[in-house]
Amino acid sequence: MAPPSVLVIGGSGAVGRPLVQEFVKRKEKFGRIGVLADARKVSKFWELPKQGIEVVVGSFLEAASYKGFDTVICVCGNAAMKLQPGIIDAAIAGGVRHFYPTEFGTDLSYGTRGKLRYFRDKIITREHLRERAKENPEFRYTIVLTGSFTDWTASDFNQIDLKKHTARPYGTADALVTVTALADVVKYTVESVLLPWEGNQQRRELRFGAETLTWKALLETLEEVQGVKYDTVYLDPHEAEAKEEEARVKGDVEAEVSWCALKLLGTGVGHMRGPFDNERFSFKPETVKETFQRLHGKK
Ligand SMILES: NC(=O)c1ccc[n+]([C@@H]2O[C@H](COP(=O)([O-])OP(=O)(O)OC[C@H]3O[C@@H](n4cnc5c(N)ncnc54)[C@H](OP(=O)(O)O)[C@@H]3O)[C@@H](O)[C@H]2O)c1
Repeated sequence: MAPPSVLVIGGSGAVGRPLVQEFVKRKEKFGRIGVLADARKVSKFWELPKQGIEVVVGSFLEAASYKGFDTVICVCGNAAMKLQPGIIDAAIAGGVRHFYPTEFGTDLSYGTRGKLRYFRDKIITREHLRERAKENPEFRYTIVLTGSFTDWTASDFNQIDLKKHTARPYGTADALVTVTALADVVKYTVESVLLPWEGNQQRRELRFGAETLTWKALLETLEEVQGVKYDTVYLDPHEAEAKEEEARVKGDVEAEVSWCALKLLGTGVGHMRGPFDNERFSFKPETVKETFQRLHGKK
């Protein structure tokens, strides 16, 4: 069988950039590797052709953009997530047979999580994929679940100031969170493209988690690595909920979705249950301590 040819959507984003660089490292295992770029934004990718990555200039919603690629990995961000049904239809019409929707987070099928605003467009996309797979027996899709990125969990997004050593997350100290370093999320994703499928399976969910721990343990690990004590106060998630509603009324989707994520993470929504698929891959993920040492340890 020919090696997979992969097109990345959202290659300039927080996940997209390291993902494309991971493909660069392993490019001999793939046919073509490309990023899809809007004509107005093509300059963002100027360095990629030198690294052997094609920059395909075209519309995300036209079949022609996908010609010659069998696999699409979509890593678009919050505001663009709702466009995925159109992207999926165009990709299938262009010949794509394997699609990765932008997920890279927690398990949405657990409890009532799927009803939360933060996940709404991901759920709509999953339903669309299910319908398209029913109509196209050759079409497959992979959902990558990673928990919260370790790097992003301890960051200003969660009101953790790594220089002033203050933490103001929403939630409680004993809430659990499953974390994986972004560097490992992209490694898992790239390797997963090469993972064989079982029989006529059309949907697969791959779960990765480096560690599951409490917020208290996460912050204690950060303190140990940085050699400082954090001034930590857990805030009431209802305060973030009010800000989410304010953003919704203003029509600021990015802020609405971010406040929704912020209110949720410290309440256990980032906790993923196993079984995990880590063992099916060629490497061991970094522990939380190793990630913090790499990112925030004394140089
Ligand atoms: N588990 C976690 O802790 C965690 C943390 C962060 C993100 N994530 C997940 O990772 C995924 C990617 O998020 P991200 O933070 O990398 O997003 P991001 O940094 O906001 O990147 C967004 C990407 O989408 C592209 N884009 C914007 N509008 C688009 C459109 N209309 N059509 C196609 N692409 C468009 C952007 O291109 P331009 O720059 O050209 O606009 C950019 O490349 C999401 O599913 C997110 O939920 C998970």
